[in-house]
Amino acid sequence: MQKFEQFIGSFSFDERLAKSDIMGSIAHTKMLVKTDIISASDGKKIVSGLMSILKDLEKGWKIPKEEDVHYAVEKELIRRIGAIGGKMHTARSRNDQVTTDLRIYLKQEIENVENIINDFQKTLVEKAAENIDVIMPGFTHLQPAQPVLAAHHLLAYVWMMQRDKERLSDCYKRTDVLPLGSAALAGTSFKIDRQYTAKLLNFKSISENSLDAVSDRDFAIEFVFCMSLIALHMTRFCEEIILWMNPEFGYITVADKFTSGSSIMPQKRNPDCAEVIRGKSGRIFGDLTALLAIVKSLPLAYNRDLQEDKPPVFDALDNVKMCLEVINEMVVSLKFVKERALKSTQKGFIAATELADYLARKNIPFRLAHGLVKDIVLYCKKNSKTLNDLSIEEYNKFSPAFKKDIFEYLNAKNIVDMKTSYGGTSKKSVMRQIENIKRNLK
Ligand code: ARG
Repeated sequence: MQKFEQFIGSFSFDERLAKSDIMGSIAHTKMLVKTDIISASDGKKIVSGLMSILKDLEKGWKIPKEEDVHYAVEKELIRRIGAIGGKMHTARSRNDQVTTDLRIYLKQEIENVENIINDFQKTLVEKAAENIDVIMPGFTHLQPAQPVLAAHHLLAYVWMMQRDKERLSDCYKRTDVLPLGSAALAGTSFKIDRQYTAKLLNFKSISENSLDAVSDRDFAIEFVFCMSLIALHMTRFCEEIILWMNPEFGYITVADKFTSGSSIMPQKRNPDCAEVIRGKSGRIFGDLTALLAIVKSLPLAYNRDLQEDKPPVFDALDNVKMCLEVINEMVVSLKFVKERALKSTQKGFIAATELADYLARKNIPFRLAHGLVKDIVLYCKKNSKTLNDLSIEEYNKFSPAFKKDIFEYLNAKNIVDMKTSYGGTSKKSVMRQIENIKRNLK
């Protein structure tokens, strides 16, 4: 192939659309027969030729290279059945064909990604249930805030992923509109039956405006946005895995295969897989920016710029699928170091809010209670004591409202168990959460 042809071509990155292209062409050909635009016998030859190409592709055969996948399929068909293969392109253009192919392909991939997310959610829910009694510090500003159940923390990601699935099924709705039959930009004078093609290809509806149909890539942009948000959610979790594995935290371990050693520092176990996932998000966000920039300012209708849509779409898709599979396996291997996580809840005056709540329940305005406890914490810091080290006499110096039962409120397990509000971190609320999410999982 000439340098110039290669430059304007897209075979190197659209070859993977071959099966979608063939499916689209089979449906289009059947429609051409139904509407008497081509004869039944020509239609039969075309369909069986396309089927034979499909079978060979499924066996791993590679279609010979052309400018793009659409030409490659058509040329191969003509090689196999002769010139009548060229009738297949009646009443369509590569412009409506290419966006049809991408939609067929993405509809399938949306379902694939949804299933992989679902598997990951199941892993997280199982891990949460297994570790229902593990207590760890919850953070705000990455400062110790209040104790929470580790299960509650894991489930937070299950809900994020649930929204990711919902977003994908919403994106599916707009991908599920068939542009085929819009031809180059204006529609066609052949008396085609677009509804019939849509039925054969399992599309819910057909596009209303041919100019819009051939130039619309909103569904692809939305898809890459969905991939970006999934990636973003994974980076948040990976960041926590990295922190929790750090000996300063020491809350978890993951299987050795997800880490690597250092070539110079013998003691190191580096969280490479989590870091690579965190890093991959950068290219996925880049894919979204690339796609937005490709479509930006394009006048109607089709422009060749649109051919550049495929690399970012496929790159985002491939990387998100890979990352989801790796993170899933990594979480399967994740073990909590229960005692260590619990011990951390004794640091950082994590029970301070409970003391303020305690006083508030004794009718002291919360704002005043907050100030009193702040003073208690300062007193502890000055005297190198924890809240547990203080005597009831010391507490009473700050407020006579403190009674002996105050020490029950300093225990992390009690603190967690008291958070019974809907969506809170008590074991009871978390068990309910697990039941609720299970209803949403396949
Ligand atoms: N390979 C092209 C693409 O991916 C096919 C469409 C070409 N259409 C055209 N009018 N030149 O967009």
